[in-house]
Amino acid sequence: MKILLIGSGGREHALAGALARSPRCSALFAAPGNPGTAALGTNVVLDVADHAAVVAFCRTMGIGLVVVGPEAPLVAGLVDDLTAAGIRAFGPSRAAARLEGSKAFTKALCDEASVPTAAYARFTAAEPARAHVRERGAPIVVKADGLAAGKGVVVAATVEEALAAIDMMFSGGLGAAGEEVVIEECLVGEEASFFALVDGETAVPLASAQDHKRVGDGDTGPNTGGMGAYSPAPVVTPAVAERVMAEIVRPSVAAMKARGTPFRGVLFAGLMITAEGPKLIEYNVRFGDPECEVLMPRLMTDLVALIEATIDGTLATLTPAWRDEAALTVVMAARGYPGKPEAGTPIRGIAEAERLDGVTVFHAGTKQQPDGTLVSAGGRVLAVTALAPTIAQAKARAYEAVDRIDWPGGFCRRDIGWRAG
Ligand code: AMP
Ligand code: GLY
Repeated sequence: MKILLIGSGGREHALAGALARSPRCSALFAAPGNPGTAALGTNVVLDVADHAAVVAFCRTMGIGLVVVGPEAPLVAGLVDDLTAAGIRAFGPSRAAARLEGSKAFTKALCDEASVPTAAYARFTAAEPARAHVRERGAPIVVKADGLAAGKGVVVAATVEEALAAIDMMFSGGLGAAGEEVVIEECLVGEEASFFALVDGETAVPLASAQDHKRVGDGDTGPNTGGMGAYSPAPVVTPAVAERVMAEIVRPSVAAMKARGTPFRGVLFAGLMITAEGPKLIEYNVRFGDPECEVLMPRLMTDLVALIEATIDGTLATLTPAWRDEAALTVVMAARGYPGKPEAGTPIRGIAEAERLDGVTVFHAGTKQQPDGTLVSAGGRVLAVTALAPTIAQAKARAYEAVDRIDWPGGFCRRDIGWRAG
């Protein structure tokens, strides 16, 4: 079967590896892909926002399966349009993708399905929001309801800080995103990412991971897409995983089905593991990036078989198998990230890094120049990943690989995995 993968990040390079090694995959295409996916298949120039063009490409090339990596095409309804055209596609419908696209939708679903999450209230004016914060006290979380490029969440340690965030948002500091503000109870605990496959009715747990969102060592500096990850996350013990499935994932899946918008695809729960148990911070409707780069190297089951069972509604017959080893990935980003990353700086030494046992270097924002030189072409550029018996060993191996990469234009955190000891 010919497979088309949509996306161009480290997540997609990791997915491309798992798809290409499936006996069911006869040819792999990636749109737009990156130099990493080009080594596993064929990159194609295709405007993925033009759904008719994607359908036409699939028909011409005889594509049997489309796998969508990022959230934007899902929220835009690409899977709906492919399915309507009779082309099998992996990922939620536009209606089900609202679990990621709208904070208010997810909070309402949590209320309806009694999913543990932070208590919240919504405000459209500063004064009642200020009064609410004074009444509740700190710490407290102030969020702009709309998308605000990672700047929309303030975890305020003091009432003054929360009041300042409210004033900033209502005085237009975040533009339209701050016209409505959500004030949430501050959850205390350790964060973790939890992934499940859902076929509309049955949810099958995949694995846990832990991301590192801040740009700097010691979790300092601005938020990013993620600077590194490891899997499994020790904080998600088997008992915690069972509670996540029973109290969060399965009730949400049942509520989506009851609403007539069943969820099919990867459900990614952003969790806080609190003293009372796991609570949902947010849902995403796709694999995480960089979490996918530590999940795929651990996955032993054929990814294509899992994807087909998700589409066909037969997940109940499958149990994904995972390697016992841990995986850890260190993101190398271009200088300037998450602000304005420097493009076009040359990168060498990937082959030397991959000569280390268990190491894979996933490409994200890279570009191959006509003369063959690899250069940076984005914020997050490489995900240097190692598989080893323990997280500590995977960490040592990943940093050994990082140190073989000769890229003066890049930087990385040196402490990925610190919480895992
Ligand atoms: P979000 O954009 O909703 O994913 O939030 C970004 C980050 O803010 C999360 O990864 C958490 O670290 C933090 N955060 C969000 N909501 C809460 C909450 N209710 N309590 C504590 N931390 C939170
Ligand atoms: N690494 C977090 C995300 O993919 O949203």
